[in-house]
Amino acid sequence: MKIHIAKTCPTQAVWMPATLSGLPQEIRKELRLQLQSKPVAAVPSLGLVPQLAVACAQGHDADDMLAIRRRAGVIAQVVTTRKRLAYESDNNPVNIRQTVMGFIQGAYTFDRYKSAHSTCLKQCDLLGISGRAARAAVREGEIIGNATSFCRDLINTPAADLGPADFVREAKKACKGTGLRLRILDEAACQKKKMGALLAVGAASAADRRARLLVVEWNGKNTTRKKDFIALCGKGVVFDTGGLNIKPGRSMQLMRKDMGGAATVLSAMIALAQLNGKQSIRAYLPLVENSISAEAFRPGDVLTAADGTTIEIGNTDAEGRLALADAMCLAKQEGAQKLVTVATLTGAAMVALGRIHVPIMGDQDIVDQLSHAATSSGEKVWQLPMDDDHKTMVRGKMADLTNSDGSGEAGCITAGAFLSYFAGNLPFAHCDISPASWQNKQHALGPAGATGVLVSTLVDAFR
Ligand code: BES
Ligand code: ZN
Ligand code: ZN
Repeated sequence: MKIHIAKTCPTQAVWMPATLSGLPQEIRKELRLQLQSKPVAAVPSLGLVPQLAVACAQGHDADDMLAIRRRAGVIAQVVTTRKRLAYESDNNPVNIRQTVMGFIQGAYTFDRYKSAHSTCLKQCDLLGISGRAARAAVREGEIIGNATSFCRDLINTPAADLGPADFVREAKKACKGTGLRLRILDEAACQKKKMGALLAVGAASAADRRARLLVVEWNGKNTTRKKDFIALCGKGVVFDTGGLNIKPGRSMQLMRKDMGGAATVLSAMIALAQLNGKQSIRAYLPLVENSISAEAFRPGDVLTAADGTTIEIGNTDAEGRLALADAMCLAKQEGAQKLVTVATLTGAAMVALGRIHVPIMGDQDIVDQLSHAATSSGEKVWQLPMDDDHKTMVRGKMADLTNSDGSGEAGCITAGAFLSYFAGNLPFAHCDISPASWQNKQHALGPAGATGVLVSTLVDAFR
């Protein structure tokens, strides 16, 4: 969608003025009437004003960033047929940024596999924008909004069209001209680094879909020590069959979304680069397919991660933490100062919190940093406890760790506890986006499917 800063209200648009007071009475009355039963109202202008139609929407709590974003998302979904919206904004940069993100998210569609394209809002003319701060906010909203759409596209794409190599190709394309540096460790390079956990997960995949690790680097200009960086590790399982502990049909249906962590981190990196973020950040994205063949890893196998940690396999379906373990090992080897993992890691996250709040856990400083960023960017995260008692639960019987103790108790937290071992003494936090990265029904911020959740939070937390 195009966002355009306009001085005057185009006539070929649906006009949404900031207040109804200057409108002809007939229009005002009808809009008010509609607003009693709907969040957004629109009436044809009937020749009373030059625009095609006039619309208005219910207000929002001034401090609630998510409410502002959702309101714009709903507007974008209601004003679709005429394709162009002229929106009169207040000149508050914080609201503007949020509104632009909401418009882009609300207007998002994924129709590349349809013969007929859907009708969605194509352009938004913003009226009432003046001054540098307001213009910068529009641009920022666009950058983060578009990064969110890119994330949604990656997650929505069928696994047949988005294997590890396709993911790398899309990442290269999207990173062009941003100043981000990409490195790819292919399967041989991962073998050389002794990434036994990541390689085991990919062992049963086809030759052209073997495991690899994509590293994306952003060198922030203001970093005092050049080598200091934060590592964001994102789970990139392009399809999760469960492995030999195969998932039942219903649970496997949506497993193309299991690369959501990698998509989210990559999208945030692109936005951070476009916003010229001050801090140095690196993304470590293990890209792998958890498939089934005679080469597949087995329950009861013992794997050795790149740092020498041994892991006994309680369940081949707990593969995300294995792939992430080796990504974290590499991040540590390369000198990361802090580690954050983002992953569609457990079904237990849904049981714990549902589809809106993203469970986060780990060291309090980073958790707080993420929580504040979520509030300011209009997303919801919620801290779960994770302490030594949980860390004890993932100790192995014959190896150092187990990837699943089989109890199912505190499943979301024990997954985080497993990952915390690979952070060692470094500050660490984990975000489980498995429920919130996907909505089953149309919602305020767009259609059913991938949501792009956490892109804006990561950008605000680490810029
Ligand atoms: N990819 C799944 C988690 C998932 C489930 C994401 C539902 C999105 C929706 C993950 O690899 C998995 O299967 N986890 C297991 C772990 C268990 C075997 C310890 C789970 O949550 O059941
Ligand atoms: Zn799994
Ligand atoms: Zn998985």
